[in-house]
Amino acid sequence: MAGMKVKAYKEQTFDQLHGLEGISDDQIAEHLKLYAGYVKQVNALNEQLTGMLAKGKASGKDPEFAEMTRRLGFEYNGMILHEYYFSNLRGAAEPRPSPRSALAQALTEVFGSIEQWQTDFQAMGDMRGIGWVILFEDPATQRLSNHWVTLHQDGVPAGFKPLLVMDVWEHAFMRDYKATEKAKYVEAFFRNIDWQIVERRLQDEAAVRPAAAA
Ligand SMILES: [Fe+2]
Repeated sequence: MAGMKVKAYKEQTFDQLHGLEGISDDQIAEHLKLYAGYVKQVNALNEQLTGMLAKGKASGKDPEFAEMTRRLGFEYNGMILHEYYFSNLRGAAEPRPSPRSALAQALTEVFGSIEQWQTDFQAMGDMRGIGWVILFEDPATQRLSNHWVTLHQDGVPAGFKPLLVMDVWEHAFMRDYKATEKAKYVEAFFRNIDWQIVERRLQDEAAVRPAAAA
């Protein structure tokens, strides 16, 4: 609404990301800069679109209005998915969720075993193209499922709760690995998963990510 005071998003810091196994600090630092760009773009787009509305320029026939509106999904999910991704990584991580955890039980229910779930998730990570692999929970049925998301926004099931988020854009690994070595990066990702965060996202009503309005 015109005149409404809208809070901007604030770039988050992720202090637990140093010393990961197989994902270098340089790789993370570069990746965090890209993430910061998405936060800036979300804020800029919101400001510009609010400005257009206030000036009576909100029109579906206006190419500038339409293009900026279409970009919202890309920039928002570029910000949001990175916040989930960085916060589900940590050093000195356990290789698997605790077998007694609700997460392990939910995975086993759908996939037969944690190993089978991991095979499926990693196979998706090895798919061609840039995007994300995400373990979601359908809040309506509590069913867990793995999904491929192209770019940042194509393939996200509406209202599903993200539990584990893996970035498989080339920018996520090409400082440490070659373009042809994505599978190595995916294996490294699995050595740095904060399973307690994943478990907490499953338990919480909504999967809370570190985000704050400035
Ligand atoms: Fe990324």
